[in-house]
Amino acid sequence: MIILGIESSCDETSIALLNNNKVIKNIVASQIMHEEYGGVVPEFASREHMKNIQKIVDRTFEGIDIKLQDIDGIAVTYGPGLMGALLVGLSYAKGLAYTLNKPLIGVNHIEGHIMANFLDHENLTFPFICLLVSGGHTQIVYVKDFGKYEILGRSIDDAAGEAFDKAARIINLGYPGGPLIDKMARNGNVKFHSFPRAKIKNRPDDFSFSGLKTSILYLSKQKGNNWIQENLKDVCASYQEAIIDVLQKRVFTIAKRRGVKKIVLAGGVAANSRLRYVFTEISKKNNSDIFFPSLEYCTDNAAMIARTGLELLKRNKISSLNISAVPNLRLIN
Ligand code: KG4
Ligand code: ZN
Repeated sequence: MIILGIESSCDETSIALLNNNKVIKNIVASQIMHEEYGGVVPEFASREHMKNIQKIVDRTFEGIDIKLQDIDGIAVTYGPGLMGALLVGLSYAKGLAYTLNKPLIGVNHIEGHIMANFLDHENLTFPFICLLVSGGHTQIVYVKDFGKYEILGRSIDDAAGEAFDKAARIINLGYPGGPLIDKMARNGNVKFHSFPRAKIKNRPDDFSFSGLKTSILYLSKQKGNNWIQENLKDVCASYQEAIIDVLQKRVFTIAKRRGVKKIVLAGGVAANSRLRYVFTEISKKNNSDIFFPSLEYCTDNAAMIARTGLELLKRNKISSLNISAVPNLRLIN
């Protein structure tokens, strides 16, 4: 089966073409203009998606034997995300589904991040525990089967990606903060400063990152920007370590309690080199198997949407042309 994937939930316009499990194309156009504003400007995001979507679809079919008429289904993100941004991809997908008379498959973006793992690891099987860490979500999910989820832990405030992005803004590093902190932290001392590892009363499996953000804000006010810039590598390394430490402790404690030996990482923050390293090392010690997507499938991309769409289409879970965008869509409703 050939699936066309469309992703436009935030600031990446992405189109992918999937032939069963094989990615034929995965084009991601990142909107760099948001850098200037230190975060995504929703109105600009929608306009950029509108400007680019057709061009990217055209590019997708360049140089290959497959034509638009050959596809078996159109998988598109319908939530969660920015309303205007989602609408661009969804309306485009509806138009295409209608004119080509092909099935439209609405995909949950969070489920897409989890399913991204199957693009690289065909041997991955259910069940497993997934740490989903993106710009909008931080959850530990028990994935019993495709579409069968149980949330075991979650952030009660900021997502892990936000903890990276907000800190980077505070220390004048730029946007998006995750990759910049990751790079800067590579030669830094993880023990340089002791950032808080928040625990929530009576909720041992949940996490909170808002105190961490406040603590780097205080540190920069107290010591001043010059001091931060002089110790940038070490500040980044010790801040990043606090995030990873909390995530790692929760995931492995829950996995041990549940007797699950298969750990899967997903979402933009799963691109973090130190997170991948720490999770790999602990998994080795625990005799657990660890899986994470290749870098291009961690951050937002349409291949993961097409991969999820394939599973839905196999199960005949097709959407109506009236499907609406749902900005606050959750993994389990
Ligand atoms: O999954 P994603 O592309 O979009 C959402 O669905 O939110 O995740 C974006 C988030 C941003 O917060 C970004 O800073 C973070 O993923 N991120 C990283 C890295 N690459 C992207 N965080 C830490 N280290 C990275 N290397
Ligand atoms: Zn995402």
